[in-house]
Amino acid sequence: MKAIKIVGSRRAKVMARVPMPELAGDCVLIKTMAVALNPTDWKHIDFISTKGATAGCDYSGIIEEIGSDVDPAHGLQVGDRVAGFNHGCNGENLSDGSFAEYIAVKAHINIKLPDWMSFEDGATLAVGITTVAQGMYQQLRLPLPSPASSITAADDAQPILIYGGSTATGTLAIQFAKLSGFKVITTCSPHNFSLVQERGADHILDHNSPTLAKDIRDLAGNELCIVLDCITTGESIIKCCDALAPSSPNRKLQYCGLFTVGALPRSDVEAGFTMSYTALGESFQKWDNYYPGSSEDARFVGDFMKLTSKLLEEKKIQNHPAEVGSGLEGVLKGLDRLRKEDVSGVKLVYSL
Ligand SMILES: NC(=O)c1ccc[n+]([C@@H]2O[C@H](COP(=O)([O-])OP(=O)(O)OC[C@H]3O[C@@H](n4cnc5c(N)ncnc54)[C@H](OP(=O)(O)O)[C@@H]3O)[C@@H](O)[C@H]2O)c1
Repeated sequence: MKAIKIVGSRRAKVMARVPMPELAGDCVLIKTMAVALNPTDWKHIDFISTKGATAGCDYSGIIEEIGSDVDPAHGLQVGDRVAGFNHGCNGENLSDGSFAEYIAVKAHINIKLPDWMSFEDGATLAVGITTVAQGMYQQLRLPLPSPASSITAADDAQPILIYGGSTATGTLAIQFAKLSGFKVITTCSPHNFSLVQERGADHILDHNSPTLAKDIRDLAGNELCIVLDCITTGESIIKCCDALAPSSPNRKLQYCGLFTVGALPRSDVEAGFTMSYTALGESFQKWDNYYPGSSEDARFVGDFMKLTSKLLEEKKIQNHPAEVGSGLEGVLKGLDRLRKEDVSGVKLVYSL
């Protein structure tokens, strides 16, 4: 088969005649139909990859074979249309990674795609859904949406700030926060205001506004206690902390970023972060950090994937807009666009 392999420092290439992946007992074999690009793909290729590793995380495809130990409770069958998340550029297992014509992936990490959703739209989902599961529900402990949830929140609903609402993570986070009953305040560039409004945001602000933190405090009646920061830079951390309510013994203030954050500018704010790879349940090393395998993370995200499958079936969740190209060679060009930060309000997707 063909796959995108790491061939040297900062170099990834489409290779032909790559051996098919071996199917472990807890995995399913998938014929890949489409893949989507994430910033982590090029960051891994450029900074932390192992020669011979396979790049890519997001995929959609068709199940061709089911591993001998796969729990029937996952409800997966040969022929199912699925989307999921694979550990791209995994130095511990070189055949992991989604940019390949066939992939073997953990069964629990698959979302079943409804008939109405194309493989291209489906490919945009899993990294973002995993991050929402870990950030909003495992870390920040928002109440999970129930099957009866709708996006109509009460006027006095609790506010949440989703900083970076136009990111691929953000547009999903907005929808889940609404289904969990929150009033969503979000930030992005003005050209993405209509996108985040369409996904359900209640209040939208330009993240470059000099009065951003004050405006958020005003909108939230100085009662903002929860932030998901989908950008997580030094600047975004300061703005998010500034927007949170003042300290009070009756309030728990929570911030969750998408990267490890050091000390926050406010000691009264509880800090958390996500690392989507832990959802696969296997241990790994990134830079100097060792992450032990977490069966709890795998179980939590596995359950969240099942919930997402139901919400998709009910058309309660919409994917991030997909800009569709084709082929693994196209993927390499798309990665260059992400490196140049030339992508806004869409996810780059490639049909295979
Ligand atoms: N920890 C994890 O597990 C995890 C998982 C997923 C993603 N991430 C990380 O989270 C970040 C977002 O990923 P994504 O795929 O969701 O994003 P994305 O779709 O690539 O988002 C790109 C958008 O982010 C906004 N943006 C970029 N730099 C910004 C800045 N300095 N200040 C404010 N906004 C900025 C811009 O929005 P506008 O065009 O509207 O300005 C840009 O269009 C990436 O750094 C990614 O590596 C981490």
